[in-house]
Amino acid sequence: MSQPAIARSAKALRVATAPWRKKSQKIALVPTMGALHAGHIKLVRAARRKADRIIVSIFVNPAQFGPNEDFARYPRTWREDLEKLAAEKVDLIYAPAVREMYPEGFATKISLEGPASGLETDFRPHFFAGVATVVAKLLAATLPDYAMFGEKDYQQLQVVKRMTADLNLPVEIVSVPTVREKDGLALSSRNAYLSPADRAAAPTLHRVLHETAASIRKGAPVGPTLVRGRRTIKAAGFKLDYLEARHASTLAPVTSRKDGPVRLLVAARIGGTRLIDNVAV
Ligand code: PAJ
Repeated sequence: MSQPAIARSAKALRVATAPWRKKSQKIALVPTMGALHAGHIKLVRAARRKADRIIVSIFVNPAQFGPNEDFARYPRTWREDLEKLAAEKVDLIYAPAVREMYPEGFATKISLEGPASGLETDFRPHFFAGVATVVAKLLAATLPDYAMFGEKDYQQLQVVKRMTADLNLPVEIVSVPTVREKDGLALSSRNAYLSPADRAAAPTLHRVLHETAASIRKGAPVGPTLVRGRRTIKAAGFKLDYLEARHASTLAPVTSRKDGPVRLLVAARIGGTRLIDNVAV
């Protein structure tokens, strides 16, 4: 199997992609932090349907981890990632070093409001500035026609859509539905941290989302239905960060199904592992 080319710098990327641009080929970027699983591969396949050339970036971005978070122990599986991307016939992997992305003197950070308010920001205040800044850098370095993002990280998806629109970045953000295990657990690189007991409890999150959405759809009031869902999640052994109902694109709080298309979002910790998930109502 032929290996995808690997670029380690923005300059090397420009050289590798120049012939594609000359031929007016469409380029799709799939930004990742590696430790690739079937969710990432679904993004790659969605990219294949849109574009002639696929770039996958692999960069564990220190700027989006808090000081007490898992940057050091975040899974790094470079060899397996390469094999998976070769099997998908990805054209180019962009894997810059930290000092290539954040050289001495780096001083710029994207600041966000709107969809970045609340939810993850209440628990990981540094997170979206880190994500938006690195995504803007990845887009600037790769200049893709399309960039693929998973609904798994729903608030991130809305923040990235808002940021690219606000900055007039000439890229179409394409969203891809969440890939799940058979029991409903959303695939995540962090699932590797789960003990067998925690893994057994983990699908509770999706089940509660699913049941809460069904109740609200049938006309149950939003507030009390969320209260019940929160209770169930805590009873299953989770420390709950949030279970909320938000407007599906602005992520503004909603109190009724009539406030617009509604999305339910959850974040909770079990053992030392923090899991997030979301569903449409
Ligand atoms: P990472 O967690 O590696 O995820 C990369 C992309 O894969 C994201 O768009 C994410 O939403 C998507 N993804 C993850 N699990 C998925 C699943 N089960 N189904 C569908 N898509 C899934 O998200 C990041 O990296 C980073 O924040 C990044 C955007 C790369 C910026 O550093």
